[in-house]
Amino acid sequence: MCRIIGVLNYKGGTAKTTTVVNLGAGLALRGARVLCVDMDAQGSLATYLGVCAPYSTKHLLLKMVEPRQCIVNARERLDLVPSDASLLEAEGEFWKMGNRATAYQMFVERLQSLQDGYDFVILDYSPSANLLGESALRYTEEVIVPVAMNYLALVGTRQVVQTLKSIGRMQEHRLRLSLIVPTFYDHRLRKDTETLETLQRHFAGQIAEPIRMNVKLAEAPGHQKSIYEYAPTSAGALDYARLVERVANNG
Ligand SMILES: Nc1ncnc2c1ncn2[C@@H]1O[C@H](COP(=O)(O)OP(=O)(O)OP(=O)(O)O)[C@@H](O)[C@H]1O
Ligand SMILES: [Mg+2]
Repeated sequence: MCRIIGVLNYKGGTAKTTTVVNLGAGLALRGARVLCVDMDAQGSLATYLGVCAPYSTKHLLLKMVEPRQCIVNARERLDLVPSDASLLEAEGEFWKMGNRATAYQMFVERLQSLQDGYDFVILDYSPSANLLGESALRYTEEVIVPVAMNYLALVGTRQVVQTLKSIGRMQEHRLRLSLIVPTFYDHRLRKDTETLETLQRHFAGQIAEPIRMNVKLAEAPGHQKSIYEYAPTSAGALDYARLVERVANNG
């Protein structure tokens, strides 16, 4: 069975894409077949892994080619559907459908047509709330929220929790907040320990071990490598490997 995971926070720069790349790469190294889908018009996911492709999420969502043509292989057992600024055209076309329910259904059908043969589909959400993001929540089953250690990221997390609750009330679809992942954590900083304590008070049992602030994680995309390829013994690799185990055992 395929698990559908969305990595989401309505705050920018909380390490969503870093988490998608290193969660996806880590699960693939562990033997799982993984498809990562970029839902952000910034298109960072393919850049992080150094992948070029002729087609993107726009072609998938607007049915411009056969769905499987939008998949590109990035590493052994790790595939991507990349994005770029043209995703905004798909967003415009979805709005023209005039009816949100139709847009949601169309989105879900397109993604479902890709998932056969994968153990995990992991979606990299855009930080801004938009119709494609709303549609993606109708496809996602488990939400992972990376939270940077500052007040604004906590506010973004509260928004995610409220959105998930309101969707849960509206529909039958199985959608759950699976994990909160503290990111950019530095135990020497009081703001970080206090933010972590706040998260633990509100989400006990759903908090992953923190991903520490680690310069290798910031450098890896410039070398177009996952953290396991770029710096396998770094704190970043150890922290993400621990997250991979938690997710793999948390089905
Ligand atoms: N633990 C970490 N330590 C140091 N740098 C990190 C860490 N995690 C991520 N980074 C760096 O922080 C920056 C933002 O990360 P990333 O692109 O993953 O965030 P994002 O949430 O996807 O951003 P956006 O909201 O724009 O999509 C990147 O340059 C990334 O390499
Ligand atoms: Mg991103």
